[in-house]
Amino acid sequence: MKVLVTGGAGYIGSHTTLRLLQAGYDVVVLDNLVNSSRESVLRVEHLTGRPVDFRKLDLLDARGVDQLLAEGGFEAVIHFAGLKAVAESVEKPLRYYENNIVGTLNLLNAMEAHAVRQLVFSSSATVYGASGEMPLIEKAPLDATNPYGRTKEQIEDILSDLCAADHRWSIALLRYFNPVGAHESGIIGEDPSGTPNNLLPFIAQVAVGRREKVIVFGNDYATDDGTGVRDYIHVMDLAAGHLAALGHLADKNGVFRWNLGTGQGSSVLEVIETFGLVVGKPIPFQFAARRSGDAAISYADPSAALADLGWSAHRDLRQMCEDHWRWQRKNPLGYES
Ligand code: NAD
Ligand code: WQD
Repeated sequence: MKVLVTGGAGYIGSHTTLRLLQAGYDVVVLDNLVNSSRESVLRVEHLTGRPVDFRKLDLLDARGVDQLLAEGGFEAVIHFAGLKAVAESVEKPLRYYENNIVGTLNLLNAMEAHAVRQLVFSSSATVYGASGEMPLIEKAPLDATNPYGRTKEQIEDILSDLCAADHRWSIALLRYFNPVGAHESGIIGEDPSGTPNNLLPFIAQVAVGRREKVIVFGNDYATDDGTGVRDYIHVMDLAAGHLAALGHLADKNGVFRWNLGTGQGSSVLEVIETFGLVVGKPIPFQFAARRSGDAAISYADPSAALADLGWSAHRDLRQMCEDHWRWQRKNPLGYES
């Protein structure tokens, strides 16, 4: 079975591509490499001993995307490609709306034209906004608070409208919580460009000596230790969730929404401490003001994915830190190392 993976050179896309290849799927990766490198795909090929048909292509190139789908043989698409930096989306909203929404529309038009109607979409827990009741269930009201999050919410609406209009479509909206970790080999992992926005890559860069200390955004939240609580999920558990969703879509039509999280919240200080235990030395940190737009607490109720897909996350915070650290230690400068 041939699957198109948009954004397959990126962090979550490369780990999912690896799992797809191991499960016997043939994979075509479409990526414009705006936030990734070709090296990740080469390493996935090396790890699996299987080829990836890589196409350097921008989703904004509607003709190019249509020509790719016209080649035929695709049964499904997993759509990771998008821009994801929250702060940048506030500064450059048009870039985010164009890339994420127009890019998705181009993909959907090409899929429709060539009768490929199974889609797994990378949504995000960010669609729930910052003040929902915990744990978050899929029926909770959506209230994204920044342009990036609104692109996810709007794409969810577009995909729901599409399924309502044409019952031949099968679409999974996967709402990821906080993806972290790396493949256990330490050969592929997350390689943020510039200063990392997210906690785990920042801690890992401190641990490897690229940065002096972690800045902890806020220690006055109404949580046990005053720092923000999140539902961190290992990227390989997340990858497995995509295969489970793909299996579900094979014989069911309609739109499905699933949280992909562990259901467990961890505070910033717990993560810093666990990472330090893994590295064998404490990670230096300093408290600073809250980061604007941050929720105090966010964690999933992942029971719908268990009930419908038989999927749940198995790896704990310790393993997330161990695998993240193995990748960072082996590749101190990411894929450039
Ligand atoms: P990533 O940046 O590593 O991967 C995204 C990939 O898409 C990159 O390889 C990038 O080059 C590519 N891309 C972007 N715009 C493109 C375009 N117009 N045409 C072709 N390729 C394009 O990000 P990731 O962490 O792997 O995230 C994958 C998806 O999951 C994204 O849609 C993201 O919004 C979503 N998501 C990520 C997180 C997270 O914390 N990492 C959480 C929730 C949802
Ligand atoms: C986690 C916790 C921070 C960095 C973001 C996006 C979300 C989704 C996942 C794509 C928070 C604290 C962080 C640092 C810190 N992405 N922190 N110092 O904010 O939960 O979610 O990534 O969809 O849309 O918003 O993740 O890793 O940035 O933060 O103290 O240097 O760590 O305040 O409590 P977040 P994060």
